[in-house]
Amino acid sequence: MSQQNGVPPLVTALKSSALKNAASFQFPGHNRGHAAPASLSEVIGRTAFAHDLPMLPELGNLFCSHGPILEAQVEAAKLFGSSQTWFLVGGTTSGIHAAIMATCSPGEFLILPRNSHISAISALVLSGAVPKYITPSSVNHWHIASAVTPAQVLKAMEELEMEGKKAAAVFITSPTYHGICSNLSRISELCHSRKIPLIVDEAHGAHFGFHSKLPKSALQQGADLVVQSTHKVLCSLTQSSMLHMSGNIVDKERVCRCLRTLQTTSPSFLLLASLDAARAQLSENLDIAFNQAIALADEAKCELKQIPGISLLENTSFPASPAVDPLRLTVGFWNLGLSGYEADGILYKDDEVIGELVESTCITYVLNLGTSREHVERLLLGIKRLAETYGSNEEAEKKVVNVDATFDDISMSLIPRDAFFASKRKVGIRESIGEVAGELISPYPPGIPVLIPGEVITEKVVDYLLHVRSKGAQINGASDSSLSSILVCGKL
Ligand SMILES: Cc1ncc(COP(=O)(O)O)c(C=O)c1O
Repeated sequence: MSQQNGVPPLVTALKSSALKNAASFQFPGHNRGHAAPASLSEVIGRTAFAHDLPMLPELGNLFCSHGPILEAQVEAAKLFGSSQTWFLVGGTTSGIHAAIMATCSPGEFLILPRNSHISAISALVLSGAVPKYITPSSVNHWHIASAVTPAQVLKAMEELEMEGKKAAAVFITSPTYHGICSNLSRISELCHSRKIPLIVDEAHGAHFGFHSKLPKSALQQGADLVVQSTHKVLCSLTQSSMLHMSGNIVDKERVCRCLRTLQTTSPSFLLLASLDAARAQLSENLDIAFNQAIALADEAKCELKQIPGISLLENTSFPASPAVDPLRLTVGFWNLGLSGYEADGILYKDDEVIGELVESTCITYVLNLGTSREHVERLLLGIKRLAETYGSNEEAEKKVVNVDATFDDISMSLIPRDAFFASKRKVGIRESIGEVAGELISPYPPGIPVLIPGEVITEKVVDYLLHVRSKGAQINGASDSSLSSILVCGKL
């Protein structure tokens, strides 16, 4: 990584703007905190409001970058190794929308894994691109999707080529929510040999490349557009992300146009400054920032392996993956007869331990720069107590039914954009089998769609949705979150 400037230019500029005794006749209406609502300012302080400033000449403009905003983005580009970096205030979601719209026009093909985040699917609606899905295999017992392999990408490209078509872009999620990485070096070679841009959803990997034990970043492996949730593993405020570009396949002006189309005209300077601050924080401790988090994760894994009845997701389960994020701990509770939802509920109530990704059989815990030894010890003690209380036996294991969200028998009757705009009707969930889905339905977390508009609804999908809902998953996207009914395409 290049030598970095630790000073955050946007934070510095924001600080001096807020210190001015300006007679402001501008938005926002709280007027630099003078009219901050007491209920909130008593909690977060007036200072936060005083720094919630509009676009001022001395701060710069996000959409025709100059001044401190531009300087902050240039510093980020140097640190992450991009040719250009854009700060995002609509999360990685907005960056994925922009990246797909900037590379795929209506009717063009996008190769992507079927288990992509909902933002990639909504980008298909926005862009009118046609999906060419890859189905990653899933790991036994855990039902966790593996990496996308270069062979799967090549097969998808060749299938299109046999029909005389070419992909406009390839989209890969690496790492996944569980930390599983794909071989991006090989995939980017495949893409570039055909002049196809590679977009990487690196929402969970903004820390990659910053420690010898962390996997290489997508940019280091040749990706063209990379979107990172700086707010997930690094330390910016929620909703702030970065879009990085590299190489010369992608049209930079088109990316700018898409970002201007998709983002608010009033970006929050608190969010933007937090991106600048997170970048400076990392550059001050290059290569050592994650020492403690990685050491704690290694210790925790050793202890978890000793607890009877507890399963730990191991790297060896993913032979197709060149790397797994060492800062993700995925723990299975099925031998105790507990679902992930039940285990999480008990650990939260008894120990105030909160997992990041709670699923039917397991929970994924994320370690980051703020993780302390005390918190890891509390997690381990809580899990040990669960193991002692619920014991481990075959009968208990049978209580936790693993239902696989397999997406390998999907048939698409309409492309997502056409299904999104088609007329709809509501039918009972069981009556929907065989109909064309009119809405995107996704248990959250992890925000992976089980049903995408335009797909034919199968019995397997309905059973899966009802199962995860009965186990406590929140169902997002559905017009009826109780799942008694569902929207399908077509008139009455
Ligand atoms: C794999 C993946 N991609 C994209 C996103 C969207 O990120 P954001 O919340 O920053 O919009 C998420 C969010 O959880 C995600 O898990």
